[in-house]
Amino acid sequence: MRIAILTSGGDAPGMNAAIRAVVRSAIYNGIEVYGIYEGYDGLIDAKFEKMIESSVADIIQRGGTILRTSRSERFMTEDGFEKAINSLKIFEIDVLIVLGGDGTLRGAKKLKETGVNVIAVPCSIDNDLAYTDFTIGFMTAVKTVTEAVSNIRDTTESHGRANVVEVMGRSCGDIALYSGVSSGAESIIIPEKEFNINEIAEKALIGKNRGKKHHIILMAEGRGSAFDFAEEFEKLTGIDTKVTVLGYLQRGGAPSIFDRILASQMGYKAVEEACHLHSCAIGTSDGHIRAMSFSDIFEVEKIFRDDLLEILKTVSI
Ligand code: F6P
Repeated sequence: MRIAILTSGGDAPGMNAAIRAVVRSAIYNGIEVYGIYEGYDGLIDAKFEKMIESSVADIIQRGGTILRTSRSERFMTEDGFEKAINSLKIFEIDVLIVLGGDGTLRGAKKLKETGVNVIAVPCSIDNDLAYTDFTIGFMTAVKTVTEAVSNIRDTTESHGRANVVEVMGRSCGDIALYSGVSSGAESIIIPEKEFNINEIAEKALIGKNRGKKHHIILMAEGRGSAFDFAEEFEKLTGIDTKVTVLGYLQRGGAPSIFDRILASQMGYKAVEEACHLHSCAIGTSDGHIRAMSFSDIFEVEKIFRDDLLEILKTVSI
């Protein structure tokens, strides 16, 4: 039996730990394994390399992806897609394992519909895949944001200022929500919820009048301009307000322990499923690693953690 593995879309800390788990579990089970470089682009161009035990040595602790990645536009074309399928035939791949986020999994579903056996492993710092409680990379991004906010808090407190910190997440507010709880932010602005700038300003003023010397607002990137918000907020409150855009800093760095363990579990499970020569997406729910059908995963509605938002609001007065 022969499998291949690729990473696609935005890289996420923990991808390397998942690659390691897939490669080592495959070899342990007597399965031949190929790495494909640069995501679906590399699949189209047949950038395959046989992987052995040592190919994945010393990577469990490293951010990024040793297989590199791409957001492949060619894969969306008929010609590119056919070439991708052809590469799998030439290398006689029985199962393709793909690591990535929403776009990657949609690509995997399309491959599956043409008869390719595909196993998907969810990797994204955004945590925007509803069918799994957590994606690989998310908790590391939360840790990175939390540490950054701690630094920002020092200077914000010293000057008696406010700081609007823009975080990633596109259409999902989870990075802002979880980091907001763990960093003690006063307010978060996320795509899932309406916000009222007057209420946020009022909360800041109440805190200031009570002697609070800082006000941290986490704003998800998909929720508008942090600079426009800060300008308006400063006008309303009279508090000197700065903006910090964390940007790609959130995507790198050593994976957290949580992500290393999740990646190892999911990579191991992906190989277990590959042995059945079928297609599925790996996920986690209630602490268990599960395999789900591709026809179901995009139907699941994301459950917003209102409980966390309530805690954030309550303890940040
Ligand atoms: O999907 C992860 C993510 O980091 C998003 O939060 C962000 O909007 C996007 O990727 C940036 O993508 P790119 O690397 O293509 O600029």
